[in-house]
Amino acid sequence: MIWTVLLLVNGILFFLLLSTRSRSKREPPLDKGCIPWLGHALEFGKDAAKFLTRMKKKHGDIFTVRVAGHYVTVLLDPHSYDAVLQDSGSLDFSRYAQVLMDRIFKLRLPSHNPAVERAIMKQHFQGKNLTCLRSTMHSNLHTLLTSEMPHNQTNWKSSGLFNFCYGILFRAGYLTLFGGEQNNNGTDAKQIYKEYRKFDGLLTKMARTTLNSGEKRVAGGTRERLWELLCPAGLGESSSPWLRHYLQHLQEGGADDDTQTRAMLLQLWATQGNVGPAAFWLLAFLISTPEAMKAVRTEFSRVSLTTDTAQAPTLDPTQPTPVFDSALEEALRLTAAPFITREVLQNKTLCMADGQEYDLRQGDRVCLFPFISPQMDPEIYHEPEKFLYDRFLNADGTPKRLFYKGGQRLKYYTMPWGAGSNACVGKPFAIDAIRQFVYLVLTHLEMELCEPEAGLPAVNTSRYGFGMVQPEGDMFIRYRQRVCHNIL
Ligand SMILES: *[C@@H]1O[C@H](CO)[C@@H](O)[C@H](O)[C@H]1NC(C)=O
Ligand SMILES: *[C@@H]1O[C@H](CO)[C@@H](O)[C@H](O)[C@H]1NC(C)=O
Ligand SMILES: *[C@@H]1O[C@H](CO)[C@@H](O)[C@H](O)[C@H]1NC(C)=O
Ligand SMILES: *[C@@H]1O[C@H](CO)[C@@H](O)[C@H](O)[C@H]1NC(C)=O
Ligand SMILES: *[C@@H]1O[C@H](CO)[C@@H](O)[C@H](O)[C@H]1NC(C)=O
Repeated sequence: MIWTVLLLVNGILFFLLLSTRSRSKREPPLDKGCIPWLGHALEFGKDAAKFLTRMKKKHGDIFTVRVAGHYVTVLLDPHSYDAVLQDSGSLDFSRYAQVLMDRIFKLRLPSHNPAVERAIMKQHFQGKNLTCLRSTMHSNLHTLLTSEMPHNQTNWKSSGLFNFCYGILFRAGYLTLFGGEQNNNGTDAKQIYKEYRKFDGLLTKMARTTLNSGEKRVAGGTRERLWELLCPAGLGESSSPWLRHYLQHLQEGGADDDTQTRAMLLQLWATQGNVGPAAFWLLAFLISTPEAMKAVRTEFSRVSLTTDTAQAPTLDPTQPTPVFDSALEEALRLTAAPFITREVLQNKTLCMADGQEYDLRQGDRVCLFPFISPQMDPEIYHEPEKFLYDRFLNADGTPKRLFYKGGQRLKYYTMPWGAGSNACVGKPFAIDAIRQFVYLVLTHLEMELCEPEAGLPAVNTSRYGFGMVQPEGDMFIRYRQRVCHNIL
Protein backbone atom coordinates (compact mmCIF):
# COMPACT_ATOMS: atom_id res chain seq x y z
CA MET A 1 0.00 0.00 0.00
CA ILE A 2 2.74 2.38 1.04
CA TRP A 3 4.48 1.60 -2.30
CA THR A 4 1.40 2.41 -4.27
CA VAL A 5 1.15 5.75 -2.53
CA LEU A 6 4.82 6.48 -3.02
CA LEU A 7 4.67 5.51 -6.69
CA LEU A 8 1.60 7.65 -7.13
CA VAL A 9 3.26 10.66 -5.50
CA ASN A 10 6.37 10.09 -7.58
CA GLY A 11 4.27 9.78 -10.66
CA ILE A 12 2.48 13.03 -9.95
CA LEU A 13 5.74 14.86 -9.25
CA PHE A 14 7.24 13.47 -12.42
CA PHE A 15 4.17 14.51 -14.36
CA LEU A 16 4.25 18.04 -12.93
CA LEU A 17 7.96 18.32 -13.65
CA LEU A 18 7.51 17.41 -17.29
CA SER A 19 4.26 19.20 -17.92
CA THR A 20 5.40 22.59 -16.78
CA ARG A 21 7.09 23.36 -20.05
CA SER A 22 5.37 26.15 -21.85
CA ARG A 23 6.16 27.89 -25.04
CA SER A 24 7.90 31.21 -25.13
CA LYS A 25 7.10 33.64 -27.93
CA ARG A 26 10.31 32.98 -29.81
CA GLU A 27 9.91 29.20 -29.81
CA PRO A 28 8.14 27.06 -32.41
CA PRO A 29 4.47 26.15 -31.68
CA LEU A 30 4.40 23.50 -28.94
CA ASP A 31 2.06 20.50 -29.11
CA LYS A 32 2.41 18.24 -26.10
CA GLY A 33 -0.47 15.88 -26.86
CA CYS A 34 -2.88 14.93 -24.10
CA ILE A 35 -1.16 11.86 -22.68
CA PRO A 36 1.33 12.77 -19.93
CA TRP A 37 4.97 12.00 -20.70
CA LEU A 38 4.18 9.84 -23.78
CA GLY A 39 2.66 12.80 -25.59
CA HIS A 40 2.21 11.88 -29.24
CA ALA A 41 4.42 8.76 -29.13
CA LEU A 42 1.67 6.31 -30.07
CA GLU A 43 0.41 8.23 -33.10
CA PHE A 44 3.98 9.02 -34.14
CA GLY A 45 5.00 5.37 -34.01
CA LYS A 46 1.92 4.08 -35.81
CA ASP A 47 2.21 6.30 -38.87
CA ALA A 48 4.70 9.16 -38.64
CA ALA A 49 3.85 10.46 -42.13
CA LYS A 50 0.16 10.83 -41.32
CA PHE A 51 0.82 12.33 -37.89
CA LEU A 52 3.36 14.88 -39.12
CA THR A 53 1.13 15.83 -42.05
CA ARG A 54 -1.64 16.54 -39.56
CA MET A 55 0.71 18.62 -37.39
CA LYS A 56 1.92 20.54 -40.45
CA LYS A 57 -1.67 21.46 -41.31
CA LYS A 58 -2.24 22.61 -37.75
CA HIS A 59 1.02 24.45 -37.03
CA GLY A 60 2.89 25.08 -40.29
CA ASP A 61 6.44 24.18 -41.32
CA ILE A 62 7.97 24.13 -37.85
CA PHE A 63 6.60 22.89 -34.51
CA THR A 64 7.65 21.03 -31.37
CA VAL A 65 5.96 17.82 -30.26
CA ARG A 66 6.39 15.75 -27.14
CA VAL A 67 7.28 12.13 -27.84
CA ALA A 68 7.96 9.71 -24.98
CA GLY A 69 9.44 12.34 -22.69
CA HIS A 70 11.45 14.07 -25.40
CA TYR A 71 10.73 17.32 -27.13
CA VAL A 72 11.24 17.06 -30.86
CA THR A 73 11.18 20.11 -33.11
CA VAL A 74 10.10 19.07 -36.59
CA LEU A 75 11.15 21.22 -39.54
CA LEU A 76 9.36 20.65 -42.86
CA ASP A 77 10.48 23.56 -45.03
CA PRO A 78 13.10 22.27 -47.51
CA HIS A 79 14.33 25.81 -48.18
CA SER A 80 15.40 25.95 -44.52
CA TYR A 81 17.02 22.50 -44.23
CA ASP A 82 20.54 23.86 -44.56
CA ALA A 83 20.08 25.83 -41.33
CA VAL A 84 20.03 22.43 -39.61
CA LEU A 85 22.28 20.39 -41.88
CA GLN A 86 25.15 22.88 -41.91
CA ASP A 87 25.28 23.67 -38.21
CA SER A 88 27.40 20.90 -36.74
CA GLY A 89 28.47 23.21 -33.89
CA SER A 90 25.15 23.37 -32.00
CA LEU A 91 23.41 20.41 -33.60
CA ASP A 92 24.94 17.01 -33.07
CA PHE A 93 24.41 13.96 -35.21
CA SER A 94 26.38 11.29 -33.39
CA ARG A 95 24.78 11.28 -29.92
CA TYR A 96 21.39 10.19 -31.09
CA ALA A 97 23.04 7.72 -33.48
CA GLN A 98 24.81 6.22 -30.47
CA VAL A 99 21.54 5.88 -28.58
CA LEU A 100 20.09 3.92 -31.52
CA MET A 101 23.26 1.84 -31.90
CA ASP A 102 22.93 0.77 -28.30
CA ARG A 103 19.20 0.06 -28.53
CA ILE A 104 19.29 -1.89 -31.78
CA PHE A 105 22.74 -3.44 -31.93
CA LYS A 106 23.76 -3.41 -28.24
CA LEU A 107 26.84 -1.67 -29.50
CA ARG A 108 28.96 0.81 -27.56
CA LEU A 109 32.14 1.75 -29.33
CA PRO A 110 35.01 2.83 -27.09
CA SER A 111 35.75 5.65 -29.50
CA HIS A 112 33.08 6.58 -31.99
CA ASN A 113 34.25 8.79 -34.79
CA PRO A 114 31.70 8.94 -37.61
CA ALA A 115 33.86 11.29 -39.69
CA VAL A 116 36.78 8.84 -39.79
CA GLU A 117 34.45 5.94 -40.57
CA ARG A 118 32.97 7.90 -43.45
CA ALA A 119 36.42 8.74 -44.75
CA ILE A 120 37.39 5.06 -44.72
CA MET A 121 34.24 4.11 -46.55
CA LYS A 122 34.72 6.88 -49.12
CA GLN A 123 38.18 5.58 -49.97
CA HIS A 124 36.81 2.16 -50.80
CA PHE A 125 33.61 3.20 -52.57
CA GLN A 126 35.08 5.37 -55.28
CA GLY A 127 37.48 5.18 -58.21
CA LYS A 128 39.31 1.93 -58.95
CA ASN A 129 38.25 0.41 -55.67
CA LEU A 130 34.60 0.93 -56.59
CA THR A 131 35.19 -0.70 -59.98
CA CYS A 132 36.44 -3.84 -58.22
CA LEU A 133 33.49 -3.92 -55.83
CA ARG A 134 31.05 -3.46 -58.70
CA SER A 135 32.51 -6.28 -60.67
CA THR A 136 32.35 -8.70 -57.69
CA MET A 137 28.79 -7.55 -57.03
CA HIS A 138 27.78 -8.17 -60.66
CA SER A 139 29.07 -11.70 -60.64
CA ASN A 140 27.40 -12.45 -57.28
CA LEU A 141 24.11 -11.06 -58.55
CA HIS A 142 24.33 -13.17 -61.67
CA THR A 143 25.12 -16.37 -59.77
CA LEU A 144 22.34 -15.85 -57.25
CA LEU A 145 19.73 -14.90 -59.84
CA THR A 146 20.61 -17.95 -61.91
CA SER A 147 20.32 -20.18 -58.85
CA GLU A 148 16.77 -18.90 -58.26
CA MET A 149 15.59 -19.79 -61.75
CA PRO A 150 13.56 -22.89 -62.49
CA HIS A 151 15.75 -25.25 -64.51
CA ASN A 152 13.10 -26.30 -66.94
CA GLN A 153 12.39 -23.48 -69.35
CA THR A 154 8.69 -24.23 -69.60
CA ASN A 155 8.10 -24.23 -65.83
CA TRP A 156 6.92 -21.19 -63.91
CA LYS A 157 8.04 -20.49 -60.38
CA SER A 158 6.17 -18.19 -58.03
CA SER A 159 7.44 -15.95 -55.30
CA GLY A 160 6.78 -12.74 -53.41
CA LEU A 161 8.57 -9.97 -55.32
CA PHE A 162 9.75 -8.27 -52.12
CA ASN A 163 11.34 -11.40 -50.78
CA PHE A 164 12.81 -12.18 -54.21
CA CYS A 165 14.51 -8.76 -54.57
CA TYR A 166 15.56 -8.40 -50.96
CA GLY A 167 16.90 -11.98 -50.84
CA ILE A 168 19.08 -11.69 -53.92
CA LEU A 169 20.44 -8.17 -53.32
CA PHE A 170 21.07 -8.80 -49.63
CA ARG A 171 22.99 -12.00 -50.23
CA ALA A 172 24.96 -10.57 -53.16
CA GLY A 173 25.88 -7.52 -51.07
CA TYR A 174 26.81 -9.69 -48.11
CA LEU A 175 29.05 -11.92 -50.22
CA THR A 176 30.66 -8.89 -51.87
CA LEU A 177 31.42 -6.90 -48.73
CA PHE A 178 31.63 -9.51 -45.97
CA GLY A 179 32.95 -12.41 -48.00
CA GLY A 180 32.35 -15.56 -46.07
CA GLU A 181 32.08 -17.78 -49.11
CA GLN A 182 35.35 -19.54 -48.53
CA ASN A 183 34.42 -20.50 -44.98
CA ASN A 184 31.04 -21.86 -45.76
CA ASN A 185 30.32 -22.31 -49.46
CA GLY A 186 27.58 -19.71 -49.52
CA THR A 187 25.09 -21.51 -47.28
CA ASP A 188 25.63 -18.88 -44.61
CA ALA A 189 24.42 -16.10 -46.88
CA LYS A 190 20.98 -17.71 -46.97
CA GLN A 191 20.93 -18.28 -43.22
CA ILE A 192 22.08 -14.77 -42.50
CA TYR A 193 19.37 -13.38 -44.77
CA LYS A 194 16.69 -15.45 -43.05
CA GLU A 195 17.86 -14.44 -39.60
CA TYR A 196 18.30 -10.80 -40.66
CA ARG A 197 14.69 -10.57 -41.86
CA LYS A 198 13.49 -11.57 -38.38
CA PHE A 199 15.74 -8.92 -36.91
CA ASP A 200 14.58 -6.36 -39.46
CA GLY A 201 10.95 -7.00 -38.56
CA LEU A 202 11.62 -5.94 -34.96
CA LEU A 203 14.01 -3.12 -35.75
CA THR A 204 11.59 -0.22 -35.43
CA LYS A 205 10.35 -1.54 -32.10
CA MET A 206 13.92 -1.92 -30.84
CA ALA A 207 14.62 1.67 -31.85
CA ARG A 208 11.51 2.90 -30.04
CA THR A 209 12.00 0.50 -27.10
CA THR A 210 8.47 -0.80 -27.51
CA LEU A 211 9.20 -4.55 -27.68
CA ASN A 212 6.98 -6.71 -25.47
CA SER A 213 8.64 -9.46 -23.47
CA GLY A 214 8.10 -12.15 -26.10
CA GLU A 215 9.51 -9.92 -28.85
CA LYS A 216 12.45 -9.03 -26.63
CA ARG A 217 13.37 -12.67 -26.41
CA VAL A 218 13.09 -13.16 -30.19
CA ALA A 219 15.10 -9.98 -30.87
CA GLY A 220 17.83 -11.03 -28.43
CA GLY A 221 17.94 -14.50 -29.97
CA THR A 222 18.25 -13.39 -33.61
CA ARG A 223 20.82 -10.78 -32.65
CA GLU A 224 22.99 -13.42 -31.01
CA ARG A 225 22.52 -15.80 -33.90
CA LEU A 226 23.59 -13.07 -36.33
CA TRP A 227 26.67 -12.28 -34.24
CA GLU A 228 27.64 -15.95 -34.40
CA LEU A 229 27.12 -16.10 -38.15
CA LEU A 230 28.99 -12.84 -38.79
CA CYS A 231 31.89 -13.63 -36.51
CA PRO A 232 34.09 -15.33 -39.13
CA ALA A 233 33.53 -12.56 -41.72
CA GLY A 234 36.30 -10.02 -41.83
CA LEU A 235 38.85 -12.61 -40.80
CA GLY A 236 39.05 -14.29 -44.18
CA GLU A 237 40.68 -13.01 -47.32
CA SER A 238 37.33 -13.06 -49.07
CA SER A 239 35.96 -10.07 -47.19
CA SER A 240 36.28 -6.70 -48.87
CA PRO A 241 39.23 -4.36 -48.28
CA TRP A 242 36.72 -1.88 -46.84
CA LEU A 243 35.56 -4.27 -44.12
CA ARG A 244 39.11 -5.20 -43.19
CA HIS A 245 40.08 -1.55 -43.05
CA TYR A 246 37.06 -0.78 -40.89
CA LEU A 247 37.86 -3.60 -38.47
CA GLN A 248 41.45 -2.45 -38.24
CA HIS A 249 40.15 1.03 -37.37
CA LEU A 250 37.99 -0.47 -34.60
CA GLN A 251 40.91 -2.46 -33.21
CA GLU A 252 43.06 0.64 -33.14
CA GLY A 253 40.28 2.39 -31.23
CA GLY A 254 40.40 -0.33 -28.58
CA ALA A 255 37.32 -2.37 -29.56
CA ASP A 256 37.44 -5.98 -28.35
CA ASP A 257 36.37 -8.99 -30.48
CA ASP A 258 32.83 -8.91 -29.15
CA THR A 259 32.41 -5.24 -30.02
CA GLN A 260 33.82 -5.81 -33.49
CA THR A 261 31.27 -8.52 -34.19
CA ARG A 262 28.46 -6.24 -33.01
CA ALA A 263 29.78 -3.49 -35.25
CA MET A 264 29.59 -5.87 -38.18
CA LEU A 265 25.89 -6.34 -37.65
CA LEU A 266 25.54 -2.55 -37.65
CA GLN A 267 27.41 -2.39 -40.96
CA LEU A 268 25.35 -5.22 -42.41
CA TRP A 269 22.23 -3.20 -41.66
CA ALA A 270 23.77 0.04 -42.93
CA THR A 271 24.90 -1.46 -46.24
CA GLN A 272 22.17 -4.05 -46.97
CA GLY A 273 19.03 -2.84 -45.20
CA ASN A 274 17.73 -0.50 -47.91
CA VAL A 275 18.98 -1.68 -51.30
CA GLY A 276 16.70 -4.71 -51.59
CA PRO A 277 13.53 -2.81 -50.61
CA ALA A 278 14.48 -0.02 -53.07
CA ALA A 279 14.87 -2.52 -55.92
CA PHE A 280 11.53 -4.04 -54.97
CA TRP A 281 9.63 -0.77 -55.21
CA LEU A 282 11.24 0.10 -58.52
CA LEU A 283 10.41 -3.28 -60.08
CA ALA A 284 6.91 -3.19 -58.58
CA PHE A 285 6.25 0.23 -60.14
CA LEU A 286 7.73 -0.86 -63.48
CA ILE A 287 5.69 -4.07 -63.61
CA SER A 288 2.50 -2.16 -62.88
CA THR A 289 3.26 0.65 -65.36
CA PRO A 290 3.70 -0.81 -68.86
CA GLU A 291 4.87 2.42 -70.53
CA ALA A 292 7.56 2.87 -67.89
CA MET A 293 8.72 -0.71 -68.33
CA LYS A 294 8.86 -0.24 -72.09
CA ALA A 295 10.92 2.95 -71.77
CA VAL A 296 13.46 1.30 -69.47
CA ARG A 297 13.75 -1.77 -71.69
CA THR A 298 14.27 0.40 -74.75
CA GLU A 299 17.01 2.36 -73.02
CA PHE A 300 18.77 -0.79 -71.79
CA SER A 301 18.67 -2.25 -75.30
CA ARG A 302 20.80 0.67 -76.51
CA VAL A 303 23.38 0.60 -73.72
CA SER A 304 26.54 -1.27 -74.53
CA LEU A 305 27.58 -4.26 -72.50
CA THR A 306 30.94 -5.23 -71.11
CA THR A 307 31.86 -8.58 -72.53
CA ASP A 308 35.57 -8.58 -71.87
CA THR A 309 35.44 -11.09 -69.05
CA ALA A 310 34.34 -14.68 -68.84
CA GLN A 311 31.31 -13.50 -66.86
CA ALA A 312 27.87 -12.93 -68.20
CA PRO A 313 27.64 -9.59 -70.03
CA THR A 314 26.86 -6.70 -67.70
CA LEU A 315 25.81 -3.12 -68.30
CA ASP A 316 28.78 -0.87 -68.80
CA PRO A 317 28.72 1.24 -65.61
CA THR A 318 30.09 4.31 -67.38
CA GLN A 319 27.17 4.53 -69.81
CA PRO A 320 24.47 7.03 -68.88
CA THR A 321 20.94 5.69 -68.39
CA PRO A 322 18.82 8.79 -67.76
CA VAL A 323 15.48 6.98 -68.16
CA PHE A 324 16.39 4.30 -65.65
CA ASP A 325 17.86 6.94 -63.30
CA SER A 326 14.65 8.95 -63.45
CA ALA A 327 12.48 5.89 -62.78
CA LEU A 328 14.67 4.98 -59.79
CA GLU A 329 14.63 8.54 -58.46
CA GLU A 330 10.85 8.56 -58.76
CA ALA A 331 10.48 5.21 -56.99
CA LEU A 332 12.72 6.47 -54.18
CA ARG A 333 10.85 9.75 -53.94
CA LEU A 334 7.73 7.73 -53.14
CA THR A 335 9.25 5.19 -50.76
CA ALA A 336 12.41 6.53 -49.09
CA ALA A 337 11.39 8.04 -45.78
CA PRO A 338 14.28 8.47 -43.34
CA PHE A 339 14.27 10.99 -40.51
CA ILE A 340 17.27 13.25 -40.27
CA THR A 341 17.74 13.82 -36.55
CA ARG A 342 20.05 16.12 -34.58
CA GLU A 343 20.42 16.81 -30.88
CA VAL A 344 20.55 20.44 -29.76
CA LEU A 345 23.83 20.80 -27.83
CA GLN A 346 23.32 24.44 -26.83
CA ASN A 347 20.48 26.93 -27.09
CA LYS A 348 20.32 28.15 -30.64
CA THR A 349 18.35 30.45 -32.86
CA LEU A 350 17.18 28.83 -36.07
CA CYS A 351 16.78 31.19 -39.01
CA MET A 352 14.22 30.03 -41.53
CA ALA A 353 14.53 30.85 -45.22
CA ASP A 354 11.58 33.28 -44.94
CA GLY A 355 13.41 35.32 -42.28
CA GLN A 356 11.47 33.99 -39.28
CA GLU A 357 13.60 33.12 -36.26
CA TYR A 358 12.92 30.44 -33.66
CA ASP A 359 14.73 29.53 -30.46
CA LEU A 360 15.71 25.91 -29.98
CA ARG A 361 16.39 24.55 -26.51
CA GLN A 362 19.42 22.64 -25.44
CA GLY A 363 18.60 18.94 -24.96
CA ASP A 364 15.73 18.88 -27.48
CA ARG A 365 15.96 17.10 -30.80
CA VAL A 366 15.48 18.54 -34.26
CA CYS A 367 14.07 16.31 -36.94
CA LEU A 368 13.74 16.79 -40.70
CA PHE A 369 11.35 14.55 -42.59
CA PRO A 370 12.02 15.13 -46.31
CA PHE A 371 9.39 12.54 -47.24
CA ILE A 372 6.60 15.06 -46.51
CA SER A 373 8.43 17.95 -48.11
CA PRO A 374 10.00 18.04 -50.64
CA GLN A 375 9.20 14.48 -51.72
CA MET A 376 5.39 14.35 -51.33
CA ASP A 377 4.79 18.10 -51.51
CA PRO A 378 2.04 18.89 -54.08
CA GLU A 379 3.51 22.37 -54.50
CA ILE A 380 6.66 20.76 -55.93
CA TYR A 381 5.31 17.61 -57.56
CA HIS A 382 1.98 17.57 -59.35
CA GLU A 383 -0.07 14.60 -58.10
CA PRO A 384 2.76 13.53 -55.81
CA GLU A 385 1.28 10.12 -54.98
CA LYS A 386 1.55 9.00 -58.62
CA PHE A 387 4.55 7.13 -60.09
CA LEU A 388 5.64 9.01 -63.22
CA TYR A 389 8.82 7.39 -64.51
CA ASP A 390 9.88 10.50 -66.46
CA ARG A 391 9.35 13.02 -63.66
CA PHE A 392 13.10 13.58 -63.44
CA LEU A 393 13.63 13.99 -67.19
CA ASN A 394 13.56 17.15 -69.29
CA ALA A 395 11.71 17.19 -72.59
CA ASP A 396 15.04 16.61 -74.39
CA GLY A 397 15.77 13.47 -72.35
CA THR A 398 18.41 14.99 -70.07
CA PRO A 399 18.15 14.66 -66.28
CA LYS A 400 15.86 17.26 -64.69
CA ARG A 401 17.25 19.03 -61.66
CA LEU A 402 15.20 22.22 -61.51
CA PHE A 403 12.31 22.10 -59.05
CA TYR A 404 10.63 25.02 -57.33
CA LYS A 405 8.67 25.78 -54.19
CA GLY A 406 7.21 29.21 -53.54
CA GLY A 407 8.81 30.41 -56.77
CA GLN A 408 12.31 29.60 -55.50
CA ARG A 409 14.59 26.92 -56.83
CA LEU A 410 15.10 24.02 -54.41
CA LYS A 411 18.54 22.82 -53.42
CA TYR A 412 16.96 19.67 -51.96
CA TYR A 413 14.12 18.42 -54.17
CA THR A 414 14.33 14.78 -53.12
CA MET A 415 16.50 13.34 -50.35
CA PRO A 416 16.46 9.53 -50.35
CA TRP A 417 20.21 9.44 -49.68
CA GLY A 418 20.19 11.91 -46.81
CA ALA A 419 22.32 15.04 -46.86
CA GLY A 420 25.20 16.68 -45.04
CA SER A 421 26.89 14.35 -42.57
CA ASN A 422 24.11 11.79 -43.15
CA ALA A 423 24.63 11.55 -46.88
CA CYS A 424 25.07 7.98 -48.04
CA VAL A 425 28.67 7.24 -49.06
CA GLY A 426 27.70 4.05 -50.87
CA LYS A 427 25.21 5.76 -53.21
CA PRO A 428 27.04 5.06 -56.52
CA PHE A 429 27.59 1.44 -55.50
CA ALA A 430 23.94 1.01 -54.47
CA ILE A 431 22.58 2.60 -57.67
CA ASP A 432 24.82 0.41 -59.79
CA ALA A 433 23.72 -2.72 -57.90
CA ILE A 434 20.04 -1.91 -58.41
CA ARG A 435 20.57 -1.08 -62.08
CA GLN A 436 22.47 -4.29 -62.70
CA PHE A 437 19.88 -6.32 -60.82
CA VAL A 438 16.99 -4.83 -62.78
CA TYR A 439 18.89 -5.41 -66.01
CA LEU A 440 19.52 -9.08 -65.14
CA VAL A 441 15.90 -9.63 -64.14
CA LEU A 442 14.60 -8.08 -67.37
CA THR A 443 16.99 -10.03 -69.58
CA HIS A 444 16.83 -13.41 -67.83
CA LEU A 445 13.24 -13.67 -66.68
CA GLU A 446 9.75 -13.48 -68.01
CA MET A 447 7.77 -12.12 -65.11
CA GLU A 448 4.07 -11.57 -64.52
CA LEU A 449 1.84 -10.65 -61.61
CA CYS A 450 -0.17 -13.48 -60.04
CA GLU A 451 -3.02 -11.05 -59.39
CA PRO A 452 -2.79 -8.25 -61.96
CA GLU A 453 -5.83 -6.52 -60.46
CA ALA A 454 -4.46 -6.39 -56.92
CA GLY A 455 -2.29 -3.32 -57.48
CA LEU A 456 0.70 -2.37 -55.38
CA PRO A 457 0.75 -3.60 -51.79
CA ALA A 458 0.09 -1.03 -49.05
CA VAL A 459 3.01 0.52 -47.21
CA ASN A 460 3.75 -0.69 -43.69
CA THR A 461 3.23 2.66 -41.99
CA SER A 462 5.17 1.76 -38.85
CA ARG A 463 8.43 2.04 -40.80
CA TYR A 464 8.17 5.72 -41.70
CA GLY A 465 11.34 7.34 -40.42
CA PHE A 466 13.58 4.27 -40.81
CA GLY A 467 14.91 4.49 -44.34
CA MET A 468 13.07 2.67 -47.11
CA VAL A 469 9.50 1.76 -46.32
CA GLN A 470 8.43 -1.84 -46.81
CA PRO A 471 5.17 -3.33 -48.09
CA GLU A 472 2.56 -4.92 -45.90
CA GLY A 473 2.67 -8.50 -47.03
CA ASP A 474 4.13 -9.02 -50.51
CA MET A 475 3.32 -8.73 -54.22
CA PHE A 476 3.13 -12.16 -55.79
CA ILE A 477 4.74 -12.89 -59.15
CA ARG A 478 5.29 -15.82 -61.46
CA TYR A 479 8.49 -16.08 -63.43
CA ARG A 480 10.38 -18.36 -65.76
CA GLN A 481 13.53 -18.28 -67.84
CA ARG A 482 13.49 -16.20 -70.97
CA VAL A 483 14.38 -18.32 -73.93
CA CYS A 484 16.56 -15.69 -75.48
CA HIS A 485 18.23 -12.99 -73.42
CA ASN A 486 17.06 -10.19 -75.62
CA ILE A 487 15.98 -7.22 -73.55
CA LEU A 488 13.07 -6.15 -75.78
C1 LIG B 1 41.64 2.19 -52.65
O1 LIG B 1 41.88 1.51 -51.43
C2 LIG B 1 43.23 1.57 -50.98
C3 LIG B 1 43.33 0.74 -49.71
O2 LIG B 1 42.93 -0.57 -49.95
C4 LIG B 1 43.62 3.01 -50.73
O3 LIG B 1 45.00 3.08 -50.35
C5 LIG B 1 43.41 3.83 -52.00
O4 LIG B 1 43.65 5.18 -51.73
C6 LIG B 1 41.98 3.66 -52.50
N1 LIG B 1 41.81 4.31 -53.79
C7 LIG B 1 41.10 5.42 -53.97
C8 LIG B 1 41.00 5.91 -55.37
O5 LIG B 1 40.55 5.99 -53.05
C1 LIG C 1 9.71 -29.44 -68.65
O1 LIG C 1 8.51 -29.64 -67.92
C2 LIG C 1 7.41 -30.06 -68.71
C3 LIG C 1 6.16 -30.09 -67.82
O2 LIG C 1 6.47 -30.23 -66.47
C4 LIG C 1 7.73 -31.45 -69.32
O3 LIG C 1 6.67 -31.87 -70.15
C5 LIG C 1 9.00 -31.31 -70.16
O4 LIG C 1 9.40 -32.56 -70.65
C6 LIG C 1 10.15 -30.73 -69.32
N1 LIG C 1 11.29 -30.45 -70.19
C7 LIG C 1 12.54 -30.78 -69.86
C8 LIG C 1 13.60 -30.41 -70.85
O5 LIG C 1 12.83 -31.32 -68.81
C1 LIG D 1 28.61 -26.30 -47.02
O1 LIG D 1 29.15 -26.10 -45.74
C2 LIG D 1 28.39 -26.67 -44.70
C3 LIG D 1 29.04 -26.32 -43.37
O2 LIG D 1 30.26 -25.71 -43.52
C4 LIG D 1 28.29 -28.19 -44.90
O3 LIG D 1 27.51 -28.77 -43.89
C5 LIG D 1 27.67 -28.46 -46.26
O4 LIG D 1 27.65 -29.87 -46.51
C6 LIG D 1 28.43 -27.76 -47.36
N1 LIG D 1 27.70 -27.91 -48.61
C7 LIG D 1 28.28 -28.20 -49.77
C8 LIG D 1 27.38 -28.30 -50.95
O5 LIG D 1 29.48 -28.35 -49.88
C1 LIG E 1 4.97 -3.82 -40.20
O1 LIG E 1 6.25 -3.54 -39.67
C2 LIG E 1 6.39 -3.87 -38.30
C3 LIG E 1 7.74 -3.39 -37.85
O2 LIG E 1 8.75 -3.65 -38.77
C4 LIG E 1 6.21 -5.37 -38.12
O3 LIG E 1 6.29 -5.71 -36.75
C5 LIG E 1 4.83 -5.78 -38.67
O4 LIG E 1 4.71 -7.18 -38.61
C6 LIG E 1 4.67 -5.31 -40.10
N1 LIG E 1 3.32 -5.57 -40.55
C7 LIG E 1 3.03 -6.24 -41.66
C8 LIG E 1 1.58 -6.46 -41.94
O5 LIG E 1 3.87 -6.64 -42.45
C1 LIG F 1 18.30 27.71 -22.76
O1 LIG F 1 16.97 28.14 -22.97
C2 LIG F 1 16.07 27.75 -21.94
C3 LIG F 1 14.66 28.14 -22.37
O2 LIG F 1 14.63 29.33 -23.06
C4 LIG F 1 16.48 28.43 -20.64
O3 LIG F 1 15.60 28.05 -19.60
C5 LIG F 1 17.92 27.98 -20.31
O4 LIG F 1 18.36 28.65 -19.16
C6 LIG F 1 18.85 28.26 -21.48
N1 LIG F 1 20.14 27.64 -21.19
C7 LIG F 1 21.29 28.28 -21.35
C8 LIG F 1 22.53 27.50 -21.02
O5 LIG F 1 21.34 29.43 -21.77
